[in-house]
Amino acid sequence: MSSRIPLPYSPKVLELFRNPRNLGPLEDADVVEMAGSPACGDMIKLYLKIAHMEDGDYIEKASFESYGCAANIATASIMTELIIGKRLEDAWRISWKDVSNELGGLPPIKYHCSILAVGALKMGIRSYYRRLGIQPGWLPKDLTIEEKQVIEEEKLMERYYRSMASLDANQG
Ligand code: FES
Repeated sequence: MSSRIPLPYSPKVLELFRNPRNLGPLEDADVVEMAGSPACGDMIKLYLKIAHMEDGDYIEKASFESYGCAANIATASIMTELIIGKRLEDAWRISWKDVSNELGGLPPIKYHCSILAVGALKMGIRSYYRRLGIQPGWLPKDLTIEEKQVIEEEKLMERYYRSMASLDANQG
């Protein structure tokens, strides 16, 4: 018998984990952004198709691939639903907390799953404009909390795997 205590996921998290929306790659994506660490499995790949309109750039399509936990899948899924049809400027303003609230909340130990999803979105929007050589007035030069956290997690994982590799080498 397992001694693990099930996490108190909301019904919405469980529903989207079982039946994620907008799952899979987008062939015609303008933005493909990865966040997380492929080595540990906590990873999201976000795809965005952008439409240029007179009043701004809109997210025409969004999809994702996830190699993470139930909360990672659910947060990525609901985030794509939240951002489709939005201007990049408005999608940018979505925080990890907004995504978590849309899911009816996440257990604190799973906050980072929402941060990972929103971090991928913000990094994707930023790199999209960097590629175009444009700095919209609404896009801050400083990194957001989600972007900083994603970078921090990736560095942590790198350090962890490096120390595991050296442990392994020393055992040999
Ligand atoms: Fe790391 Fe959910 S993505 S625990």
